[in-house]
Order: sequence, then C-alpha cells, then structure tokens
Amino acid sequence: MHYAVKDIKLASQGAKKIEFAEAHMGALLEVRKRFAKQKPFKGLTIGMALHVTKETGVLVETLIAGGAKVVIASCNPLSTQDDVAAYLAKKGIPTYAYKGETKADYYKFIRAVIDHKPHITIDDGCDLVSEIHLKHAQLIPNILGGCEETTTGINRLIAMEADNALKYPMVAVNSNQTKHLFDNFYGTGQSTIDGILRATNILFAGKTVVVAGYGYCGRGVALRARGMGAKVIVTEIDAVRALQAAMDGYQVMPMLQAAKHGDIFVTATGGKHIIDIPHMKQMKNGAILSNCGHFNCEINAEGLAKLSTKKKEVRPHTVEYTLKSSRKIYLLSDGRLVNLAAAEGHPSEVMSLSFCGQALACEWIVKNAKTLEPKVYELPKNVDAEIATLQLRHMGIKIDTATKEQKKYAESWREGT
Ligand SMILES: NC(=O)c1ccc[n+]([C@@H]2O[C@H](COP(=O)([O-])OP(=O)(O)OC[C@H]3O[C@@H](n4cnc5c(N)ncnc54)[C@H](O)[C@@H]3O)[C@@H](O)[C@H]2O)c1
Repeated sequence: MHYAVKDIKLASQGAKKIEFAEAHMGALLEVRKRFAKQKPFKGLTIGMALHVTKETGVLVETLIAGGAKVVIASCNPLSTQDDVAAYLAKKGIPTYAYKGETKADYYKFIRAVIDHKPHITIDDGCDLVSEIHLKHAQLIPNILGGCEETTTGINRLIAMEADNALKYPMVAVNSNQTKHLFDNFYGTGQSTIDGILRATNILFAGKTVVVAGYGYCGRGVALRARGMGAKVIVTEIDAVRALQAAMDGYQVMPMLQAAKHGDIFVTATGGKHIIDIPHMKQMKNGAILSNCGHFNCEINAEGLAKLSTKKKEVRPHTVEYTLKSSRKIYLLSDGRLVNLAAAEGHPSEVMSLSFCGQALACEWIVKNAKTLEPKVYELPKNVDAEIATLQLRHMGIKIDTATKEQKKYAESWREGT
C-alpha cells in the first residue's frame, strides 16, 4: 500500500480544502507555473516530514508540477488534516500520516519516507534529517540536500554542524525574511489564539495572558492577545528581547512571578520545561496552559500529571487536571503546538510565503548541488525579494523604484548636509 491515512473516503473533502487554500496562495501558484514549464526536479524524489495541512498539499502539488516524485509523512503526531492526507493518497502520492499518531507510527512513517530514498529532504523540526543521519547513513551519498522549515529544526542542525555530525547540505528556510517575519509572527500569532479559542472558547478580554519567549512567534501571540483585550505578561531569558517587550508596553517578569497572575499561558521558546512544577504550584485555579513552540517539552506535562489526583478531557483538546490542592489546571493539546493541533495552523497567505521559500530552496539545492558542502546555508537575499514581489503582485500592491539619483546618493559617502 502506498499510503497509511485515517480514511481514504475523506479525499473529496480534502480536495475542496486544497482548492480554497490555493485561492490564497497566489505567489506559490506563480512558482508552480514556472516549475511546470522548467521541470527543475525531473527524476528526483523529494521526501518530506511536514505538517500535513491543506497548504502543504499545495506545496506537494507544486513540487510535482516541477517534475518531482513527492513522498510525505507528518512532522507532528497531532497536526495532520486527515482529509488532506486522504486527498494526497488518492492522487497516488505516497502519504503516511493521520491525526493522533502513536509515537511508534510517527517514526514508522518517517522511515516509510526514507524507504523511498529521497534526493532532497524537507523537514519541519529536523526529525527526518536526524533519523537519516542516525539510522540510514548509507543513503546520504544519494542526497543532494535538504530544507528546514522551523527555528527549532535549524537550532538542531546548527548543533549537528558544530558536532561535525551533519553530512549533507541544508537550507535554513526559516532564515528567509519572508518566512520568519510573516509565518512565525502573523501566522503563529493569529493561529495560536485560534487554537486556544477552538479548544476553550474562553474570553480573552480582561484576562492575563503570559507569553513565554519574545521571539518572532511570541511577539505575534502577545500582539494578538493584547488586541483582544488581554493584559499581557512576557517572560524571557534574553536581555535585549526582554527590553523590547518592555518597550512594546508589556509587563516583563520571571515565570515564577508571572505564574501567580496568568489566566492563559502560551510557551513560544523552543526550550524545555519553560512551565515546570514550581510554576504550576503557584498558578491560579482554572489556569490554561498551551504551547506553540515546536516540541511538546515546553510544558512539563508529566510533572502536571504527578501533581494531580484526577485528569479528564472536558472538551476536545482540553484536559482538566485536578491538583492535590483541588485547584484545576487545563492543558491544551497535550502541550503540542496548539495552533496546529486544535486549529488548522497558519492561514494560507503566510504559508504561501513560507512554501515559496521551500520550493525555491529545493530548486537552489538542485542548481548548486555540485558545490554545496555539508553545512547549514541561507538562501541568497534576492530570493526574499522574488517571493515578496510575487506576493505583492498577488495582492495588487505596487511599490516605488529608486531613481538613478537616489541610487547614486545611497551608494556614495561624499554628500552630507
Ligand atoms: N506553532 C507554529 O506554527 C510555529 C511556527 C514557527 C515556529 N515555531 C516554533 O516556535 C518556537 C519559537 O520560534 P521563534 O521563531 O519565535 O524563535 P526565536 O528564537 O525567535 O524566539 C524564541 C525566544 O524564546 C526565548 N527563550 C528561550 N528560553 C526561554 C525561557 N526559558 N524563558 C523565556 N524565554 C525563553 C529566547 O530568548 C527567544 O527570544 C520554535 O520552537 C519554533 O520552531 C512554531
């Protein structure tokens, strides 16, 4: 069987979802049009571990239009949209993903992608790359390069490079300005709130929201939470970012202090046990814990279970823990990315930008394969300009061009007051 999905009969629903996403992903469709003519991936297999969402479906079809064979598994056990997975499988695309995968299935599906011997890998979180390096190193000579979607994955790749463990070239797609300034900021900002709302339907106005991490994601979440009338507290370990948060008008304090005030908590750091047992012991009755960082280790869920005498699912994606003190704490989506588990992930418009980055990164790898080394690369700056120009055109927005006089002025040092 070329697929493992929840229910192949969901394919027609998946088709409608993908059609709707396409209508908002004009920039990526322009890349698809060019790929369809030039076929940059003819004869190549692209293996993916990405969230299987409608937007990813649009990326898959774009790479196929460019001549690739695409094979896909999920990069998170809870983020798959089963109708989209069914659609891809029904089209004959090897697809291994369902929402609610066991850990064993999660890795089995990543291995199923590896079995297709990809020439290019696309990862979100670096699990596919690390699995290849740790257990299937014999395939590495066949691999031209890979692309990584997210901050946490890039941090892992940089650690691999420093350890001399990285054996094929990787492109840090998250480093594109058209990725982290939009996807992480606007995308995570909006969809994290969406996930919390779908899971709880709680009113944000008047609540205190604690955002851990004032990076690109955290800033987006803080801004949207404030926009809905919440008081926002930021926690940080980086002095510059803490200062930025303070000057953006948020309260900044250590998590141990913030824990006492928060009604809703969102971790967005990429780190481990950002919310830990000592914090939970300080929390108010009814506190809601959620995470939008890549892995589910930001909230110590095992610790929460140990503090508790009872645990029950009160709504889909919302589990109530009753602590020995009889206070209740609610954990959303098992501490996994709440925007993908409880909602649909980022809106199509921002994924269009991110996935233009993925598509163009794959093309860049093919064009430069002979000279690339096993390192983490960033794409040349003109790629960002190309993606932004496509998106602006799609949005019907025109901008100015510098005049000859302005260019000359910008490049010279002689002219002063
Ligand atoms: N949910 C999504 O759809 C989505 C989208 C993009 C990125 N991500 C993930 O979100 C996470 C954050 O990404 P980003 O781009 O904002 O990263 P970033 O590096 O810009 O920001 C992370 C911030 O967290 C801070 N931090 C680290 N440890 C901390 C701690 N103990 N307490 C408080 N703050 C701490 C860092 O100083 C940094 O400012 C990553 O795991 C990334 O992979 C998720």
